[in-house]
Amino acid sequence: METFIYPSPLETARGLVLHLLEQMSHDAEEVFHIALSGGSTPALMFDLWAKEYKEVTPWERVKIYWVDERCVPPESADSNYGLAYSLLLGLVPIPARNVFRIRGEAPPLEEAERYSALVEEQLPRQDGYPVFDVVILGAGDDGHTSSIFPGQEDLLSSDKIYVVSHHPVSGQTRIALTGRPILAAKNVIFLITGEKKAKVVEKMYQPELDGPASYVAHQARHVELFLDEEAATGL
Ligand code: 6PG
Repeated sequence: METFIYPSPLETARGLVLHLLEQMSHDAEEVFHIALSGGSTPALMFDLWAKEYKEVTPWERVKIYWVDERCVPPESADSNYGLAYSLLLGLVPIPARNVFRIRGEAPPLEEAERYSALVEEQLPRQDGYPVFDVVILGAGDDGHTSSIFPGQEDLLSSDKIYVVSHHPVSGQTRIALTGRPILAAKNVIFLITGEKKAKVVEKMYQPELDGPASYVAHQARHVELFLDEEAATGL
């Protein structure tokens, strides 16, 4: 696990955008398949990316997917796609054909199957799983990541690519990327900021597995954590 710690959430976001641009530059011919998470943390990154790095991003060869989505319409305030579109994708010249929205308004099981097939078709495969170049993950203060919550650890070893899950408190239905394709990614990047996340970050560095975020941090083949100082307090 590589750790990058910055003084503020904004500088953490900037560090991550610059890191992604550097990764995209490794092979100027290749398509760059990146899966985004939602929640509130990535908002700063999306906003900064659109405002300050729009011109230097090779949008023609960036393909955008989602790690997870809430089963709501794209115009809902809860939509992970809606967040990314309003702060980034609707403001930059990425071809519409490069943006693969999870249809939160569709019947969940059908959509999980459709989107699994789409990702399998779009991505290169290794050891039977589609390989993202980068999967950007957040972590909930309960230790969840993607929309795989504590108690749903069976989804970490599901043989499906995307599944239907449910938020344990709100009951909200979600579509979630499962553990195996997350672990298969060339690079898993956690973007975690704020003192509320200090405990879950600490657990990710302890030897024992404790929750989905900790499991991914321990098991993925290449993991980087982009943290602000508040989230890194316990390190
Ligand atoms: C989601 C996310 C989820 C998120 C964490 C952290 O759909 O909610 O994909 O995994 O990354 O819940 O959320 P915050 O950034 O809001 O703390």
